[in-house]
Amino acid sequence: MKVTFSIIKADVGGWPGHSLVHPKLIETAEKELAKAVKDKVIKSFHVTHVGDDLELIMTHTKGVDSKEIHKLAWRTFEKATDVAKELKLYGAGQDLLSDAFSGNIRGMGPGVAEMEFTERKGEPVVAFMMDKTEPGAFNLPIYRMFADPFNTPGLVIDPTMHSGFVFEIWDIMEHKKVLMNAPEEMYDILALIGAKSRFVIKRVFPKKGGKLPADEPVAVISTEKLYQIAGEYVGKDDPVAIVRAQSGLPALGEVLEPWAFPHLVSGWMRGSHNGPIMPVGIKDAKCTRFDGPPRVAALGFQVANGELVGPADLFDDPAWDYTREKAQYVAEYMRRHGPFEPHRLPLEDMEYTTLPNVMKNLSKRFKKL
Ligand code: F6R
Ligand code: MG
Ligand code: MG
Repeated sequence: MKVTFSIIKADVGGWPGHSLVHPKLIETAEKELAKAVKDKVIKSFHVTHVGDDLELIMTHTKGVDSKEIHKLAWRTFEKATDVAKELKLYGAGQDLLSDAFSGNIRGMGPGVAEMEFTERKGEPVVAFMMDKTEPGAFNLPIYRMFADPFNTPGLVIDPTMHSGFVFEIWDIMEHKKVLMNAPEEMYDILALIGAKSRFVIKRVFPKKGGKLPADEPVAVISTEKLYQIAGEYVGKDDPVAIVRAQSGLPALGEVLEPWAFPHLVSGWMRGSHNGPIMPVGIKDAKCTRFDGPPRVAALGFQVANGELVGPADLFDDPAWDYTREKAQYVAEYMRRHGPFEPHRLPLEDMEYTTLPNVMKNLSKRFKKL
């Protein structure tokens, strides 16, 4: 059978500040989605949060970009916003950038990652959710899962993976996309995705002629850019991703291995700073120190007959303690730079923050040299 796995997320109010989601918002969303299961709109769901983002994880059979599913998510965020307003949570309704639902939730503020695929005999799927960073933060780990043999030995020793994968890369400034083959075009892929504020991996596909259908993605990342939708700075995009694992794909452990390196991502305080991404269990998915550091959570599921079996909270494990410690060491090192680059983002990236307003006020005082 074909199943659709959707993660739709939004910040509809923080508690307190931009750190966390209030449990009442989660309860509200759970109630809405439970009703949708009863009405046979979706097959199953799990509601969670990472930092101040409310995350709706759903399975259904309506395909990607289904009006019915997007409407359900929009209505759920509206209901949660009502509660956020009652509790005067911070920035209530902040990511709902439109007054009314227009048929597709893309471009309206929330982030969306969806994929439709033929369910295998055993179907392990991981939902990755980040707070205080942007979609390009997924470039390095997704590349390493599907293209780096030093991360994924299956690329070398499993004949079903040996031919590699196809990367769909988006230029999010010029609104263009390109399909590229790994390993053949590895260097060209890296030439693009190393520039992570502009080129982002959107999807990964298996190669033709392999074990898995070449037109069904095995990884997908949300690429919504909030500032492009809002026309001004409204916080970072806080992306999510869905990754399938095992049997011709990276093993679960190969999907998780890239996160042992807390790489530098942009976001953190005021969406304006580089800092390490720290893998955490949901209980630690709150952004406290300097509104961060940026965090990533990973919930693992088996999908059975279109329904979620899980979640398993994959980073809630002492195996990640060393990475977390390293992330804190790097966070401390970066913080010591205060307002200086490269802790603060380069000017080009600060264009989408509140800094240009400060610069505007100063501009009158400059005299020609
Ligand atoms: C970053 C983020 C926070 C806020 C910061 C200032 O994505 O959400 O770091 O930018 O707390 O928030 P305001 O301007 O709402 O006071
Ligand atoms: Mg927020
Ligand atoms: Mg957030």
